[in-house]
Amino acid sequence: MAKVKTTFFCQNCGNQYAKWQGQCNACKAWNTIVEELIQKPEKSDWKSSSVVKRSSKPLKINAIDTSSEPRLSSYDAEFNRVLGGGIVPGAVTLLGGEPGIGKSTLLLQIALTLPYKTLYVSGEESQKQIKMRAERIHASDTNCYILTETKTQHIFKQIEDLEPEVVIIDSIQTLHSDYIESSAGSISQIKECATELIKFAKETATPVLLIGHITKDGHIAGPKILEHMVDTVLQFEGDRNHVFRILRAHKNRFGSTNELGIYEMQGSGLREVTNPSELLISQKDEALSGNAIAATLEGMRPLMIEVQALVSTAVYGTPQRSATGFNAKRLNMILAVLEKRAGFRLGAKDVFLNITGGITVDDPAIDLAVVAAILSSNEDRPLQSDLCFAAEVGLSGEIRPVQRVEQRILEAEKLGFSSIFISKYNKISLKPESITIELVSKIEDIVKFIV
Ligand code: TYD
Ligand code: MG
Repeated sequence: MAKVKTTFFCQNCGNQYAKWQGQCNACKAWNTIVEELIQKPEKSDWKSSSVVKRSSKPLKINAIDTSSEPRLSSYDAEFNRVLGGGIVPGAVTLLGGEPGIGKSTLLLQIALTLPYKTLYVSGEESQKQIKMRAERIHASDTNCYILTETKTQHIFKQIEDLEPEVVIIDSIQTLHSDYIESSAGSISQIKECATELIKFAKETATPVLLIGHITKDGHIAGPKILEHMVDTVLQFEGDRNHVFRILRAHKNRFGSTNELGIYEMQGSGLREVTNPSELLISQKDEALSGNAIAATLEGMRPLMIEVQALVSTAVYGTPQRSATGFNAKRLNMILAVLEKRAGFRLGAKDVFLNITGGITVDDPAIDLAVVAAILSSNEDRPLQSDLCFAAEVGLSGEIRPVQRVEQRILEAEKLGFSSIFISKYNKISLKPESITIELVSKIEDIVKFIV
């Protein structure tokens, strides 16, 4: 009898070892190394000869014809945009996200509305459950087939019979292949199943969309190599308690990673949000202190975001600083700048900061709005509701320019803001009609304006 082959894999990062050890050398995690049976397949093949193989002769780059492969566009404009204009034939896309964020809902919705024959393979839910979900989404379509199966060989058998134009797998962690002995979800299984699916996608030019689970620290579960193998890695994120969901491309071989799609989770599935700014700014009759609006950019899209600050006298010895949706270290830096450069005694105050809508912003252009919100709350003096801000604050209290400022100004103008504060050092050739551009160069200018 042939010797049973085993190796040891770190379940956290996928590193391979010849023998067991307590700590993984690569990711330093403890007790994550597990023995897995591996059986090298004689031939790990997904198909019979019925599908024509694509030739792979070397060609001059000018001679390569791309026109024959138009992208498959779905009805979901946000999804198309994030992918860079639609699904590329033969491309393998991996969609990651926290449990319950809506990955299955998003891909089922796309499967139901795609005008192509689509096979949705689920290893997580039964056909009935998927039907119930589809009824919630209210899509009536006949082009989508549902299969509940986890063995890749069986899936390929069905694919050969059905010949779908798009394949969706929910999720890669539930699949297992006959060629590998270890259990579903283990590193070697994920790697093998992904390899088979990628081979299938490339040889038949069928796009494959995979759902992937993520680990506690937000990475896609399974070997890191999985992200290298696929063409596109998408991340679906958002706060489960809020309605907004953001779809981002982390890697895209066929488009930019700057685009993002915004969705709203509703009772009847995910709805595309085309005008996020209008939803993120709450309409109030009364002006309240501590609120300021930032003209930020998420990917390539301008987004007006409301920043709320609460500054109050600290009750305990150590003042509290807490930020939701904003980097806490950056908040401390801004407070230190206000303390040192503008003379505010914030060291004895509690400061709470909140970005409304449950979204997280890394755009440095939000700094000035944070400063304005803090000062407004500190002075208990409301800002006019038609002001907005877009600039970065430096350590010496200088107001620094931000990228693509004209796009931000245009968005602010479109939403009816009457003035926008930007850095004096931003070069603009734009002459907007209904919005005044206020140029500021140091933090004292803002202080003078608010206090
Ligand atoms: P799901 O797609 O199952 O998440 P994932 O596959 O990422 O684990 O989404 C689950 C959540 O979405 C669930 O908590 C309920 C919510 N939901 C709605 O609010 N409306 C809907 O129409 C659907 C289908 C789900
Ligand atoms: Mg799911």
